[in-house]
Amino acid sequence: MRLSSLVASTLLSSAALAYPILERQAGFPVCPFWGGNITVPDRNVTPFIAPYQQAPVLNLSKNTLGQTRLPVPGHIAGTLSGGSVNITLDRVTGATAYRVWRDAAAVGWITDWGQPSLSAIDTAPCDGGHYTVVAMQDNNVNDTSMGIMSLPYVLQSDGTLGIASTPVGKTFQVRVTSYNNLGPTATGYNAQLGGCAVDPRVIPWGTYFYVPDYGYCLAIDIGTWIQDDAVDIWLPDDQAGNWGVQYRNITIVGDLANPPSGSTPTTTGGSSSTTSKASTSTSTSTKTSSSVSSSSSSKVSTTTTSKSSSTKATSSTAKSTKTTQTTTTSATATPTNGACTAANNGQTLCIASQPTAYQECVNSGWINFSCAPGTQCQQSSSSSITCV
Ligand SMILES: *[C@@H]1O[C@H](CO)[C@@H](O)[C@H](O)[C@H]1NC(C)=O
Ligand SMILES: *[C@@H]1O[C@H](CO)[C@@H](O)[C@H](O)[C@H]1NC(C)=O
Ligand SMILES: *[C@@H]1O[C@H](CO)[C@@H](O)[C@H](O)[C@H]1NC(C)=O
Ligand SMILES: *[C@@H]1O[C@H](CO)[C@@H](O)[C@H](O)[C@H]1NC(C)=O
Ligand SMILES: *[C@@H]1O[C@H](CO)[C@@H](O)[C@H](O)[C@H]1NC(C)=O
Ligand SMILES: *[C@@H]1O[C@H](CO)[C@@H](O)[C@H](O)[C@H]1NC(C)=O
Repeated sequence: MRLSSLVASTLLSSAALAYPILERQAGFPVCPFWGGNITVPDRNVTPFIAPYQQAPVLNLSKNTLGQTRLPVPGHIAGTLSGGSVNITLDRVTGATAYRVWRDAAAVGWITDWGQPSLSAIDTAPCDGGHYTVVAMQDNNVNDTSMGIMSLPYVLQSDGTLGIASTPVGKTFQVRVTSYNNLGPTATGYNAQLGGCAVDPRVIPWGTYFYVPDYGYCLAIDIGTWIQDDAVDIWLPDDQAGNWGVQYRNITIVGDLANPPSGSTPTTTGGSSSTTSKASTSTSTSTKTSSSVSSSSSSKVSTTTTSKSSSTKATSSTAKSTKTTQTTTTSATATPTNGACTAANNGQTLCIASQPTAYQECVNSGWINFSCAPGTQCQQSSSSSITCV
């Protein structure tokens, strides 16, 4: 059921965005924003100072230590049954855990404890949600640990998962802001030039797009104000503030299986032609300029990048851990259980007054999440939780 072409040209109205590049799946609710009901304030266009470099086509094949990343798990599949999707995948040699996301909301954190098969259940499938799967070297979401992300998968009309097609050539207008936070993004890959935050309902993770005046962007992150037709591009230091808030017509140019060549893309605006074939002229993930000193002072435009909701099955109790699931719910929280600073990003704490809720420190701010229906939060260490 591929209806993406129907919504191709009507997407410039900023109000109710018809998700431009989704493959729809009738009969399911609209996919929620990963962060819940967050109202994005209006943001006016600001003065513009162009970046000092073009962003390269990121290549994720090696991690920041120069090691080859774990590959994408084989045989990613899924079946709809009883209103839930059971997602299965093959073991990856060298992996100790796996993550499954739906549009950046955590579907499962699967610790490999020797179970006969690896699976995660999405109890709340939605219309056109994109599933992303990754293998990890250890129970840790950082650049060293993360394998290569899968292509996005969507639920098809026959109730199985299939690879979502990437509408190469499609062009549409988005609000482009910029951020300069350092460290792991929501996918675990480090924030860097050529990496961007998106609303994965609109632009699935692992999509390459071209942003005039910026260069190439690989969708690897999310942000609380990056909803619908908005993207957040990474720039070093003051260049993020220099970018400010701008509108640009971006063009989808490829995905992790078919990265762009690095030349300026042809835009078609309408029906998509899948012509990009890896001619791999590109480049490592090092920053071209940047004397990164991360003064995230008073940037007009910096938005919060966020690690996505993660339910951590703790490795210390590996025998008994199971895939746990969460659904993201509500918005930015106030700290209740301690400090949330750069030093404890990623820390998760159960909320004492709400047994089914927890909060995660995301770039120096608490965000509330809730455990999957029927599960309760248990503090498994001083900084991580399990929903059981
Ligand atoms: C979302 O939040 C807005 C304002 O905070 C509120 O008016 C609205 O009712 C909320 N919607 C839902 C579905 O919770
Ligand atoms: C990354 O580089 C490797 C070789 O180093 C190449 O095989 C692969 O196609 C490249 N991937 C992307 C997405 O450019
Ligand atoms: C999901 O599929 C796997 C592999 O077939 C199976 O072992 C597991 O029991 C299934 N989970 C559910 C909840 O049906
Ligand atoms: C990633 O986490 C591991 C622990 O699991 C740690 O040893 C390593 O230094 C971390 N790497 C980075 C780049 O933070
Ligand atoms: C995007 O393209 C449309 C259609 O050509 C045009 O009307 C609009 O002004 C463009 N937006 C930007 C920011 O260039
Ligand atoms: C998040 O949880 C805390 C602790 O229960 C609560 O004080 C706060 O109001 C919550 N925030 C939202 C936006 O629900």
